[in-house]
Amino acid sequence: MGCKFQVGFFPVILSLLAISLSVSGSGSGSGSGSGSCSGFALDTISIDKSLKGNQTVVSKGGVFELGYFSPDKLQSWYIGIWYKEIHVQTVVWVANRETPLPDTSSELKISGNGNLVLLNKTQVPIWSTDLSSTSGAASSSSAVLLDNGNLVLKEAGSSRVMWQSFDHPTDTWLPGGKMGLNKKTRQNQLLKSWRNSEDPSPGLFSLELDPNGTKQYLAYWNGSKRYWSSGEWDGHIFSAVPEMRLNYIYNFSFIDNENESYYNYSCYDNTTIARFVMDVTGLIRQYLLNEQKQTWNLFGSLPRDPCDIYAICGPFASCSQKLPFCSCIPGFEPKFLHKWNLGEWSGGCVRKTKSQCGFRNGERDGFWPINTTEVWEKSIPSTVVDTKDCEAWCLANCSCTAYAQNSGSDTCYTYTGDIPNLKEEETTYKLYIRAASSDLFPNSSRNENKKLLKIIAVCSVTGLLIIVGVILWTLWMKLAPRRTEMDGSLMIFNYKDLKSATKNFSQKIGGGSFGSVFIGYLSDGTHVAIKKLEGHSQGEKQFRAEVSTIGTIQHINLIQLRGFCSQGSRRLLVYEYMSNSSLNFHLFQEGADCLSWKIRYNIALGIARGIAYLHGKCKDRIMHCDIKPENILLDHDFSPKLTDFGLAKLMSREFSRVLTTMRGSKGYLAPEWLSGKAITVKADVYSYGMTLLELISGRRNADWERGFFFPAEVLVQMMDGKDLGMLDPRLKGVADVEEVARACRVAGWCVQEGEGCRPSMEQVVWFLEGVVNVEKPLVLKTLEVFEDN
Ligand SMILES: *[C@@H]1O[C@H](CO)[C@@H](O)[C@H](O)[C@H]1NC(C)=O
Ligand SMILES: *[C@@H]1O[C@H](CO)[C@@H](O)[C@H](O)[C@H]1NC(C)=O
Ligand SMILES: *[C@@H]1O[C@H](CO)[C@@H](O)[C@H](O)[C@H]1NC(C)=O
Ligand SMILES: *[C@@H]1O[C@H](CO)[C@@H](O)[C@H](O)[C@H]1NC(C)=O
Ligand SMILES: *[C@@H]1O[C@H](CO)[C@@H](O)[C@H](O)[C@H]1NC(C)=O
Ligand SMILES: *[C@@H]1O[C@H](CO)[C@@H](O)[C@H](O)[C@H]1NC(C)=O
Ligand SMILES: *[C@@H]1O[C@H](CO)[C@@H](O)[C@H](O)[C@H]1NC(C)=O
Ligand SMILES: *[C@@H]1O[C@H](CO)[C@@H](O)[C@H](O)[C@H]1NC(C)=O
Ligand SMILES: *[C@@H]1O[C@H](CO)[C@@H](O)[C@H](O)[C@H]1NC(C)=O
Ligand SMILES: *[C@@H]1O[C@H](CO)[C@@H](O)[C@H](O)[C@H]1NC(C)=O
Ligand SMILES: *[C@@H]1O[C@H](CO)[C@@H](O)[C@H](O)[C@H]1NC(C)=O
Repeated sequence: MGCKFQVGFFPVILSLLAISLSVSGSGSGSGSGSGSCSGFALDTISIDKSLKGNQTVVSKGGVFELGYFSPDKLQSWYIGIWYKEIHVQTVVWVANRETPLPDTSSELKISGNGNLVLLNKTQVPIWSTDLSSTSGAASSSSAVLLDNGNLVLKEAGSSRVMWQSFDHPTDTWLPGGKMGLNKKTRQNQLLKSWRNSEDPSPGLFSLELDPNGTKQYLAYWNGSKRYWSSGEWDGHIFSAVPEMRLNYIYNFSFIDNENESYYNYSCYDNTTIARFVMDVTGLIRQYLLNEQKQTWNLFGSLPRDPCDIYAICGPFASCSQKLPFCSCIPGFEPKFLHKWNLGEWSGGCVRKTKSQCGFRNGERDGFWPINTTEVWEKSIPSTVVDTKDCEAWCLANCSCTAYAQNSGSDTCYTYTGDIPNLKEEETTYKLYIRAASSDLFPNSSRNENKKLLKIIAVCSVTGLLIIVGVILWTLWMKLAPRRTEMDGSLMIFNYKDLKSATKNFSQKIGGGSFGSVFIGYLSDGTHVAIKKLEGHSQGEKQFRAEVSTIGTIQHINLIQLRGFCSQGSRRLLVYEYMSNSSLNFHLFQEGADCLSWKIRYNIALGIARGIAYLHGKCKDRIMHCDIKPENILLDHDFSPKLTDFGLAKLMSREFSRVLTTMRGSKGYLAPEWLSGKAITVKADVYSYGMTLLELISGRRNADWERGFFFPAEVLVQMMDGKDLGMLDPRLKGVADVEEVARACRVAGWCVQEGEGCRPSMEQVVWFLEGVVNVEKPLVLKTLEVFEDN
């Protein structure tokens, strides 16, 4: 079992685990303003020490801080707990979330009956722990802020916890905290979103353990509409969150006894800083602190499609999966613009101009077709009307806000009132929404002619410029002297020539890890791609030597280097030009044509052959070190060529730094990159596997913005034998099932954690050619191992 599935899978997560936040004994936790209270513990509120003004209480290890904070530019004040060391204040708990204070002149103290209370200026309790069963003596109580973020009210000399903030979470669930049901009091620990980023009062979205006693979490809108469920806990994962199988960050446990049932979790690595939040948008999000300890990385976000959240955008707004998720439909504007901008979308949108209802002042309402569906069907009442002309009927009835018609039938559905839950999506069912025509077609007819004139003017000027340009260019080409010399098969270019060939580096077509790429036209009329190297560290002689090595590499799936320029500190490489851009464009760019399965398989095979050539067949073994869709270029017939090989060597010493710091490549880096072990060609195999997964699925493996991690899903699906399940949905299942299965298995092998388990690129070629059968990847066995312990 040399290939045992160890802890890590996603490289970036590995790097996250490498965070070492030295929290213990930092001693820097001397709370501001608490110096006057020397002799008392800084982490405690007791009868002798209350909290006022800018004073704070800091946990023993200096991790958390309790005090006043104001989320809305000093207008309202709250008592809260946040991470002391993190500059962007991240509040994890709020005491008086519903009763803000106008300033910090109030006092948090132990009251006469042993409760922790917040008194305003006139000594009226604003918030309290509200215990009736305290021992009754104030002197015997104290509240201590612990290093896990828990504020605990105890009786002196006793370990009995009378009250703790972990039992009353606000929107955040911290490691060590419970989220469950007290069976005696029937009290449920609820995560409730903030209203918006400036208002901690309870918002519309909540998360709780099923009060009926099943082992699942449920998310509700306004306490009534359930929009997400975690699925039941099977001892390892929640059934609706299969990617938990590959989670190695959190250790979840479920505890069920006669008094209570709850989940708690911890991080396997006690240096990981993590939190779960019920977000203001209704998303349940998991965050991990990044390496610099100053920003949070989104690690997970549920439900996966934010548009599944009930009324996430409020009425007359349309939801999309991209940030910001909500936008007003045409003719409408946010009802509360300020709140809208803070992420509180539930107010929705209103008509820019109040509905005129029929004709008035020459204005009339119109109906705007929107490409949306009403995702929560029947969440608004619709009435079927027996009429041929749905639009006329709806226009005439002032309470009709929208109508819908199936393209296939004449049935006319009409709607009254607000319409929430609209989602951008193309359907046969078109919804027509009433809006003032002046909002839909601002300044319509009057401007039409002007617009036309403008367009004609612009077109003719552009045309003229193009003609002049062509003439000048031909002239220049004839007159310009050829200044290129040769170095072996490579041309040596003059910087000035390249500058003019690229029109002063004006047309950037790519930006790799080693520098930007520009399109250029050589004086002989050929198209080239010119790479301006950045961060090189070699002298001229060495550079020439390396470049001529690269120049000798010739393979149908490797991009051909045609020449270079090395002048002063400038280093440029001139490559053949590929007309169909890079693979990432075709896979991920919106609106790009979908690549057929045949083309994809061809790309997978071609690139595998190219890498195999680099790894074995050419004179010097060359590691690529940066295989990703951005570095796979496509020719006019979509035949693939790998670019950027050999550059790792050019970068020499600085290289590894470049690589590990470069953005965008992280998702393709083999785990050993981050563990500091020696790198072998098997690192390329890993990156190839990650790229292959994306080629199959048409999706990024990791989307940091939305926080989803694809390989987990993929591997789980592979385990279920649903190989076509991970196929790019745009292919609509049109693919060779056998090839898809083969590609999936190859990918599964390539991304094995252990280098020794990954095949060589030559083997990959054999697998993909079908010369050798490929078995199900080892991931399957190791997953079982993972589950069983
Ligand atoms: C706290 O407030 C006091 C008086 O208002 C002020 O003198 C002191 O500088 C403040 N401390 C900090 C850390 O802001
Ligand atoms: C304190 O709270 C009470 C009750 O909410 C209120 O009537 C009073 O005005 C508050 N005092 C101050 C100074 O805000
Ligand atoms: C809980 O049980 C009641 C009665 O059996 C049922 O009506 C309700 O839908 C259940 N709630 C959930 C969340 O399953
Ligand atoms: C939420 O529910 C309450 C009653 O439970 C209702 O009064 C309120 O209007 C609802 N909020 C929204 C935004 O619909
Ligand atoms: C996970 O937590 C449980 C206790 O809740 C503990 O027994 C177990 O050892 C932990 N697992 C790991 C791998 O740390
Ligand atoms: C349940 O509560 C009772 C009374 O508080 C206590 O004696 C008992 O130990 C508790 N059971 C568990 C499993 O914690
Ligand atoms: C969860 O709580 C139980 C009982 O209090 C405890 O034994 C266990 O260690 C906790 N697990 C985690 C992961 O915190
Ligand atoms: C983390 O765990 C290690 C080993 O159990 C322990 O030595 C260390 O003090 C812990 N660190 C923190 C911050 O708890
Ligand atoms: C709706 O979709 C069609 C086809 O994709 C597109 O032409 C049209 O512009 C879209 N309409 C709106 C309002 O977005
Ligand atoms: C207008 O539409 C509403 C709801 O569909 C209906 O109740 C009402 O009778 C209609 N009014 C007229 C005048 O048709
Ligand atoms: C419409 O016309 C008004 C006044 O002529 C002008 O202020 C406004 O900017 C115009 N709007 C558009 C969208 O052209």
